[in-house]
Amino acid sequence: MTAARIDVHLEPSWWRTTLEHDVRTGLVAEQRSIPAKWFYDEIGCQLFDDITKLDEYYPFRAERDILATRANEIVAVAEADTLVELGSGTSEKSRVLLDAMADAHVLKRYVPFDVSEETLRSAADQIATDYPGTAVHGIVGDFDRHIPLVPIGGTGMVAFLGSTIGNFEPSARKRFIADVVAALEPDGTFLLGTDLVKDPDRLWAAYNDAKGVTAQFNLNMLTMINRELNADFDLDQFEHAADWDADNEWIDIRVRSKVAQTVQVRDLDLVVEFATGEEMKTEISAKFRLGGIAAELEAAGLAVVEQWTDSYGDFAVTLARKR
Ligand code: AVJ
Repeated sequence: MTAARIDVHLEPSWWRTTLEHDVRTGLVAEQRSIPAKWFYDEIGCQLFDDITKLDEYYPFRAERDILATRANEIVAVAEADTLVELGSGTSEKSRVLLDAMADAHVLKRYVPFDVSEETLRSAADQIATDYPGTAVHGIVGDFDRHIPLVPIGGTGMVAFLGSTIGNFEPSARKRFIADVVAALEPDGTFLLGTDLVKDPDRLWAAYNDAKGVTAQFNLNMLTMINRELNADFDLDQFEHAADWDADNEWIDIRVRSKVAQTVQVRDLDLVVEFATGEEMKTEISAKFRLGGIAAELEAAGLAVVEQWTDSYGDFAVTLARKR
């Protein structure tokens, strides 16, 4: 197998220190919350994969359809020789774009960026093997700190897919986009996947599926905290809650305490009281409008080249170029 070059920017203590900090801060706050990035332990990744196969969860299929039908066009207008994917995971989506770049004989470099070193290493090595002659330079890092260290070089297209950007609050989203723009060379491009505002009933159903997979995914956050931080959340005493917030145009995802109860987090020396019905926020999943996406990108110093939607108008992929 061909080896890819991998730069690891996360110090070994990062996971533990950041988890402890995030859980402590999140549990002692007036409005409790845990960042959505902690959903993705091994079980959480598996549950998210299950979510993408649910009838109600259209975003994954909608984006996949757009990429499958438009990859050649995207590659032709982007004129990039380097693909960077932020949050590349198993690099499955990257392959659709890499294939189109290889077909167009423009592919020189692939730069996957992910927080999970293990997943990134195996994905990067596999890509290096499957796309011979392509330089593969993986980055293990965290979106909050390491976007400025992404070695784009050449003419890069930075892809951020799956509507993961919907997890950021507007201020964090603005910062994230600014970091991407700063990392791009002139003429570099940003390819952004975003779920769109639609009928609230369909949005609600996508986060309240009949089989309860999303509920399991959400409550798995508590299982992870129990295991990693020696806590005693009783999974039977909490429930999943997800609702459309029409003012903010996002889905608000929480875990709700069914009863008045006390939870201990032994590794943090923390005792937390939950009142009946008290909620802890675990995620927002913002939904977008074509004009709003374009306005945010333009405000950050990008020029929108094109926006593609699936045939139902459920999801958008936007390509924008650095001015
Ligand atoms: C991976 C962040 C895009 O917001 O739809 C799915 C995560 N949460 N169901 C989303 C998720 C609950 C997903 N993203």
